[in-house]
Amino acid sequence: MTPAETMTQTNPSSNSDSLLVVDDLRTHFHVDAGIVKAVDGVSFSLERGTTLGIVGESGSGKTVLSRSIMRLNTGGNAVTTGSVNYDGTELVGLEPKQLKSMWGTEMAMVFQDPMTSLNPVVKIGRQITEHLRFHLAVSRQEAKRLGIELLRSVRIPEPEARFNTYPHQLSGGMRQRVSIAIALACGPRILFADEPTTALDVTVQHQILNLLRFQQRDRFMTMILVTHDLGVVAGRTDEIAVMYAGKIVEKAPTKSLFRTLKHPYTEALLASIPKVSNPKHTRLDAIAGRPPDLINPPTGCSFSPRCPYAQAKCFEQEPTLVPDADPGHQFACWYPVGSAENAEAYERNLANEVPATLAAAGRLLATEEIVDTEAMVLAHVDSEGDKGAMN
Ligand SMILES: Nc1ncnc2c1ncn2[C@@H]1O[C@H](COP(=O)(O)OP(=O)(O)O)[C@@H](O)[C@H]1O
Ligand code: SF4
Ligand SMILES: [Mg+2]
Repeated sequence: MTPAETMTQTNPSSNSDSLLVVDDLRTHFHVDAGIVKAVDGVSFSLERGTTLGIVGESGSGKTVLSRSIMRLNTGGNAVTTGSVNYDGTELVGLEPKQLKSMWGTEMAMVFQDPMTSLNPVVKIGRQITEHLRFHLAVSRQEAKRLGIELLRSVRIPEPEARFNTYPHQLSGGMRQRVSIAIALACGPRILFADEPTTALDVTVQHQILNLLRFQQRDRFMTMILVTHDLGVVAGRTDEIAVMYAGKIVEKAPTKSLFRTLKHPYTEALLASIPKVSNPKHTRLDAIAGRPPDLINPPTGCSFSPRCPYAQAKCFEQEPTLVPDADPGHQFACWYPVGSAENAEAYERNLANEVPATLAAAGRLLATEEIVDTEAMVLAHVDSEGDKGAMN
């Protein structure tokens, strides 16, 4: 088997209800130093009306994956291969003109910073109506009526008055609501939200995330919610895919992931969200070590240099996604968390004073605490809720 074949992840979960089927998707950037394998053999499928969370540290390939699926420009030096089947239409290789007609109406994206999607010198009302009139055959008057309705639906108070304001006259949270309104304007069937709340303070974050969840359910949209924070996707997604170095290393129904996570990287991500005993947003240490070089990734498992459980096999052979006993749960690891082999590997590394193991020793959470962590995250979400305060 060639290394490329070894890296391919199969797609055992696709079915006929799927709106989106991604198969062995790769986006590689050709740069002077070599080839950056930003997305490297990603496969998954997504049913209509469900929400998938894509979680991973900065640089793990989440944005490139989202843009590659939507076929938005990823740069002149990018080569995308594999398949993106959207409701029966293959998007990889589709003419730009056909893609353009799908953006906004079939697929839309909410970006991290609303100022990148909003034009700072155009009033928000006009930005919405232009978008509506571009995609839908509606009169100016009808577009205005629809635009005001949209602003109301994303809970912007006094939408008639806000219609005539510029983006800079609104708070960050309000601007993101406007971006969401524009993304929803033409009734897309799939919405990508790429770190939509990273730039916002925590209360506003909850409001925006809850608004997205509400709109997703209300419109029976399919949603892909991209974040570096497992806490953001707890309670708001049906499934979670964890990305590391351009690949999915664990994927599971959300409850299953929090109940019995299997991948050490997922465990490390969870350890980096606030602890039960200290819910005041205290962050634990970031994951020890640095994300891998995507031009020359480590041989074997790409997480091996940072993994507290790594054994000789991990440095030699790359694990592929295998199914767990829990339906829909898959992971790529030789010594999965919770197994006897994992416990032995940890003890062995601890005795040998392996640096990554020592670094992790103080912060690994017991399984019981992990369950509590999800409960805590959810309780916090509920208490913040969408209190109706408009920020
Ligand atoms: N045009 C490009 N040329 C070279 N490398 C790129 C380009 N765009 C993104 N990358 C690299 O691809 C990797 C994944 O990036 P990205 O998807 O933005 O990560 P994330 O969204 O998870 O933070 C990063 O290492 C990034 O530097
Ligand atoms: S135990 Fe091995 S295979 Fe599993 S994540 Fe760690 S290094 Fe990778
Ligand atoms: Mg990103």
